[in-house]
Parts: sequence; structure tokens; C-alpha cells
Amino acid sequence: MRNLSEEANAYQNVCNHVVIVDDVWFKYEEEYVLKRISLKIEKRDIHIVMGPNGSGKSTLLKILAGILKPQKGRVYLCDRDIDVLARRDLTKYLGYVHQNPWFYIFNPTIYEEVAFTLRNLGIDENTISKNILEVATELDIVDLLDRSPFTLSEGEARRVVITSAVAHKPLLLLMDEPTAGLDYNLKKRFVDIIKKLNTVFGTAIIIATHDTDILTMIDNAKLVIINKGEIVYRGEVKDALNNPKIFTNNNLSAPVEVEIASRLGISWRELINFNGLLFEVAKLRGSLCR
Ligand SMILES: Nc1ncnc2c1ncn2[C@@H]1O[C@H](COP(=O)(O)OP(=O)(O)OP(=O)(O)O)[C@@H](O)[C@H]1O
Ligand SMILES: [Mg+2]
Repeated sequence: MRNLSEEANAYQNVCNHVVIVDDVWFKYEEEYVLKRISLKIEKRDIHIVMGPNGSGKSTLLKILAGILKPQKGRVYLCDRDIDVLARRDLTKYLGYVHQNPWFYIFNPTIYEEVAFTLRNLGIDENTISKNILEVATELDIVDLLDRSPFTLSEGEARRVVITSAVAHKPLLLLMDEPTAGLDYNLKKRFVDIIKKLNTVFGTAIIIATHDTDILTMIDNAKLVIINKGEIVYRGEVKDALNNPKIFTNNNLSAPVEVEIASRLGISWRELINFNGLLFEVAKLRGSLCR
């Protein structure tokens, strides 16, 4: 029997492109909130989408998840027009992690929660338990499987929703503000999970976020900046980190270590653990003040 990563690789070989967004325009009311959006996501790509509040990040993710339909333009998922894909095919190809980890959780145990999507896809119980165990092992939540979702910490709940989103081996994982509410150490763990999913399961990943900390943690990703509904930057995260004006010109802050390094005239890589250090100092201060 093939293991999960072999199946994921075989599955991904079916598509030339994971996603093609071709000149998409979207409006909720009178004004377009997304304009002229074109993007290509290849196998194993990690894209980080940033932009000021209200710039259209969540709307874009919802369009890619087939939740919203653009008024103009086309979206192709695995070379097929998303409009003609059946709901079940969409579920099969996609994992969507909502900004609020509790949003989709409603089953009595974590196991049932994760099994729910797989049962809806008509997958047999043996494969379901094998897949759940395999992904839960990767994400280090095997001990939580019998627990009620409502007893989890935020960081645990986030790993559960990620497990639910990937247990069926999606081609594309969409995550909206996945690090909101996570402390620096949990963010680092989250990034390890993302990297593992990408390399072990071959999943292409799109993360919409305000969180600049994760840029220095996944510096081999691609960065897309949206401002007022339009893509204003598309390139390598590394290049943006070496040119922080890309952030400030678009009403965003550069990661704190990048800003400090640029004032000191040194490379941000020399300050890579700066945020972690600040977190440790804050913890120490907290414990001294108690
Ligand atoms: N259901 C809705 N009806 C009307 N307008 C909406 C709706 N949802 C979002 N908008 C508007 O669309 C624009 C883009 O919103 P969106 O949520 O995509 O932005 P965002 O970049 O994700 O913002 P944030 O950083 O705050 O999460 C905003 O002007 C927002 O007010
Ligand atoms: Mg949003």
C-alpha cells in the first residue's frame, strides 16, 4: 500500500497548475474590492498574501475556495474552471482554514471532527483512520484525538483545524490569518508544520496574514501584497526583506528585525532570533513582576 506522501505526490502529478487566477474582479456592493487579480500557483508553492485591513485578502481566499464567485474573470483549480467543479471535487482539492479556529468545529471529539470531511468525501473508514493517524502524528495531536474540541487551547485548536483541512491530502491549503493569537514559540511550531505539509504532503499553501514574523520564518515563500484590491507587489519574500520600502510604500510594517537591521546597516539575518529574544525577555519580566 502506498503511504500518504506517495499518494499526495501521485495526485499532484494530475495537474499542470494548482491554481490560475485570470483577471478576477469582485464586488460585494457597488465598488469592486478586487480588481485585475491574476496569479499562478504551482505545485509546492508557498504564497504569503499581505495587505492593509480591507485590502481584499480574505475575499481572495474565499474566491479561491469557491465560496464567492467573481463577477469578472476566471479561476482554474487543477486546470479546471472552478465554476464547473462539483462541490465534492472542490472539497477534495482544497483545504480551507478559517481565521477563527472554532468556526467549523462542531463534532464531539477531535477524531470525529477530522473524520467528518473525509466521510463526506465517501472515503472508507479504514482509510479515514489511517489518514487521520498519519496526519495527527505529523502535527503532534495524536494524544488529543479522543478529547472534546472545546477543551483545547487556541494553539491546539489551530492544529486540529489544520489536520481537518489536510487529512484528505488536498492539493491546495488556504489559510486566513492562521497565526492570529499565537505567541512567538507557537508561531515557530506552526511554521514547522507548514513546511512539513509542503515537503511531506506536497501541498501548495496560501497564507493571508498581517503577521510579518512569519516572513523571516518562511523566507523561501513568495509574497503577494494587495492594496485597495489590486496586486501591488509580487515576488520573493527574500527580495522584499532585503528592500523594506516594499512594505512601507504599501502601508505595511516590515518585520521588526528587518527595520532594526536596516537602521544598523546590517543584514536582517544577523537579527533572525531577535523576536524570539524579545519574547523571552517579556516572559522573564512577567515572571519577575509576579
Ligand atoms: N460581506 C461583505 N459585504 C460587503 N462588503 C464586504 C463584505 N466582506 C468584506 N467586505 C469589504 O470588502 C473589502 C475587502 O474585505 P476583506 O475582508 O477581503 O479584506 P482583508 O484584506 O481580508 O481585511 P483584514 O485585513 O481586515 O482581514 C473591505 O472593504 C470590506 O469592508
Ligand atoms: Mg481578512
